[in-house]
Amino acid sequence: MLAERIPDLAKFVEPDRVRREVYTDAQIFDLEMERIHEKVWIYCGHETQVPKAGDYYTVQIGRQPMIMVRGANGKIAVLYNRCPHRGNMLCGDRSGNTGEFFRCSYHAWQFHLDGKLKNIPMMESGYAGTRYGKDNPDCSVKRAARVENYRGFVFASLSPDGPSLKEFLGKAIVAFDDMCDRAPEGKVEVVPNCFRVIQHSNWKIFLENQLDALHPSVVHQSTGRAAHDIEKKIAKQTGKAPLSYHMLSAFATVTIDKWDNFQTINYPHGHSVLTGYMGLRPQDPDTVAYDKIMIKAYGQKRFEEIVGVNIHHVIVYPGLSVQSPLQQLRAVRPLGVDRTLTEIWHFRLKGAPEPIYRRSLAYYNLVNSPATLINADDLENFWKCHQGLASEGGDWVSFARHFGRDLEKDGVVSSGPNMGTSEAPMRNQMKAWAQYMQP
Ligand code: FES
Ligand SMILES: [Fe+2]
Repeated sequence: MLAERIPDLAKFVEPDRVRREVYTDAQIFDLEMERIHEKVWIYCGHETQVPKAGDYYTVQIGRQPMIMVRGANGKIAVLYNRCPHRGNMLCGDRSGNTGEFFRCSYHAWQFHLDGKLKNIPMMESGYAGTRYGKDNPDCSVKRAARVENYRGFVFASLSPDGPSLKEFLGKAIVAFDDMCDRAPEGKVEVVPNCFRVIQHSNWKIFLENQLDALHPSVVHQSTGRAAHDIEKKIAKQTGKAPLSYHMLSAFATVTIDKWDNFQTINYPHGHSVLTGYMGLRPQDPDTVAYDKIMIKAYGQKRFEEIVGVNIHHVIVYPGLSVQSPLQQLRAVRPLGVDRTLTEIWHFRLKGAPEPIYRRSLAYYNLVNSPATLINADDLENFWKCHQGLASEGGDWVSFARHFGRDLEKDGVVSSGPNMGTSEAPMRNQMKAWAQYMQP
C-alpha cells in the first residue's frame, strides 16, 4: 500500500533537493491530481474562446474532462463533460457551438447551457415512480465547484473550499494585468486555436524549466548563434535586421553571466516572476505609433507605468506559464506521470496596431511553437530528464544553485543580488507542492 511505502510525502522534498519518485511514481501522480490540480484554481481558457451563447471549449482539469460553455445569459459555466444518464461525454469535439442546449448523443437527454436538466425522452412514461426526473439534481450535469473570471481569463476550481481566485493568484495576478494593460482598450482577445504539444515527461519538469534562467544560453545557444549569424548578415546588407531575428539571437548574445543580472521573485502557492529584458523600450516606428495610441488612451503618467512593468515571465503554479509583455500563455495539462499536454496560446492587444500583434505572432512562432528549434531544444531535455529520473542512477534531484542566499521578506523569496540563475523558483514550487500534498 502507498500509505506504508510513502508514509510522509513531505519527506520527499528537502529545501534544496527532491526525491526522483516525485516525478516518476504513478501513485504520487494520482495524489497530485487529487490534492493539487483538482483542488486549486486551474485556467480553463479565455472568454473570447466562447463569444456566443452555446459556444463551448473542452478542457482537462486534473483527470477530469470539462466543458467551458457560454450560457444564454452571457455567463460562462464550467461543467463536467459527462452525461448523468450513463456517463457519455456530452461533447466529443474539442470546441464548437451546441445550440440552445446540450443533447447527449447516446439517449438524447437534454441539458440547459448551465448544465440543468431540460428534458429526458419519455420522461413521464419511463421514469414515473423512479428516483430520476426533473427535480433530482443527479439528473443535471455536474458543475465545477467554483468558476471565476479575471479580466477575461476563466479559471475553475473543483473544490468548494479554498482561497478566492484573487487571493490564490496574489502578486502573480500581474501576469494578467500586465497583458491587458498593454492593450489600448484594456483587454486582450485570444487568437483562435493553439498549438498542442504532448511532452513525454512529468508536468513539473516543464514548469521548472520556465524560470530556469541558466538553461537558455546553454540549451538554445546553437539556435541563437545561427540566428545571430543571419541577423548580422542581413544588417550588413540592408542596414537593419528585422526584430524577429533578435528574439532568437538573444539566446546566444545573452550569455550565462548576463542572466545572473535578472531576478526571480517567488511568492506563496508556488508562483514566481522573472524580471528582465522585456522591459526594454524599442523606438522603432511601430512602437512609436503604438505608444501614441496608448498615451491617448491612458495619459502619459499611466502609460509610463504600464510599459515600465519589467517582467519577462510569470509562473502561476501549477498550471500556467505567461509571458505577458508578448501576450504568450502556455497551459500545462498533466495526462499521466510521464505525459504532459501543453497548450500554447497567444493573444491580440485590443486596440493596438497590427504590427504590434505581428510581433507577438513572431515570438509565438519563433520561440514557443512546436515548429521552432527553441521548443525542440527544450523538449529533448524534458524527455531526457524524465528518462534519467526513471533510472536507478540516483535518488535525488538537486535544486541547490544559490541555495542559502535567497532573500526572504514577508513570505516572498527573491533570488539574491546578481543571482538570477538561482534555482529559487524550483525550490518555491516544491515548497508549495509539499504543502499541497499534506493529507
Ligand atoms: S448516456 Fe447520455 S443520454 Fe444516455
Ligand atoms: Fe528553454
